Amino acid sequence: MSERVRVVVSGAAGKMGREICAAVARDPELELVGGIDVAPSPGLDLPWSSDPELLLREVRPRVVVDFSTASASVGVALAALRAGASPIIGTSGLTESMVGQIREAAVTSGLGAAVVPNFALGAVLMMHFAEIAARFFDSVEVIEAHHDTKIDAPSGTAIATAQRMVVARGQDFRRNVPDKETILGGRGAHYGGVSIHSLRLPGIIARQEVIFGALGQYLTIAHDTTSREAYLPGVLLAIKRIVERQDFVFGLEPLLGLNT
Ligand SMILES: NC(=O)c1ccc[n+]([C@@H]2O[C@H](COP(=O)([O-])OP(=O)(O)OC[C@H]3O[C@@H](n4cnc5c(N)ncnc54)[C@H](O)[C@@H]3O)[C@@H](O)[C@H]2O)c1
Repeated sequence: MSERVRVVVSGAAGKMGREICAAVARDPELELVGGIDVAPSPGLDLPWSSDPELLLREVRPRVVVDFSTASASVGVALAALRAGASPIIGTSGLTESMVGQIREAAVTSGLGAAVVPNFALGAVLMMHFAEIAARFFDSVEVIEAHHDTKIDAPSGTAIATAQRMVVARGQDFRRNVPDKETILGGRGAHYGGVSIHSLRLPGIIARQEVIFGALGQYLTIAHDTTSREAYLPGVLLAIKRIVERQDFVFGLEPLLGLNT
């Protein structure tokens, strides 16, 4: 039997971190060997530190999964690569320059590394379908909805969707700009001609609609996350696939063999 993949979870005391710790611990191919967070998760009997360098030196994982905050993620990813581990970053809100830093360090190290804006398979397919439709429509808007404790807006998935649709179309979309904006921000945020509207409400986990408009018709592609369990199969798959790679991957698509 091949050795179990040693995994550290960063942001381990958070909502996602706790779910991932439990899912890794349940998986017979994986071994949960440590947690990183500013404070330990109650009830988790594991080597623990708020200092990634210290913990990674001590427990020598093969993969570090990070669901913390954007300001911490780059440090965690670089510490992982220095310690010979592959980082998988699920935290949202990373800037292009932060992703670039991780990509560069991964290429130098020769280790697999991943930044994955969304681990839910349905959401990955929604983005894939939106990318296909982007070639055939001139106008599109995104409505995303999340729980009211989400700290960033728009969501990483909404921004990634807009970026990918603009690349697929080869130019910015045509965006309606009103003559009069009665309340500032009335048309939402925008990227490459894609308006993005963010709802933040209790009771919602994550939802996104991509709405393409054309003469006499509109096309809606929608995805709903009804529980955080939606992310777990994607995270476990990423851990198992990243150890076989020596490159940097952005998004779950390359790990699923989904050609865009
Ligand atoms: N990629 C995806 O599919 C996906 C899915 C769900 C959530 N997310 C993202 O994951 C992140 C975490 O989400 P959450 O709902 O678990 O949030 P959360 O606030 O419940 O958890 C974040 C955890 O990070 C910890 N943390 C803060 N600073 C840290 C540091 N310097 N080092 C280590 N840990 C630190 C916090 O103490 C907390 O325990 C968010 O950015 C969220 O948007 C991504």
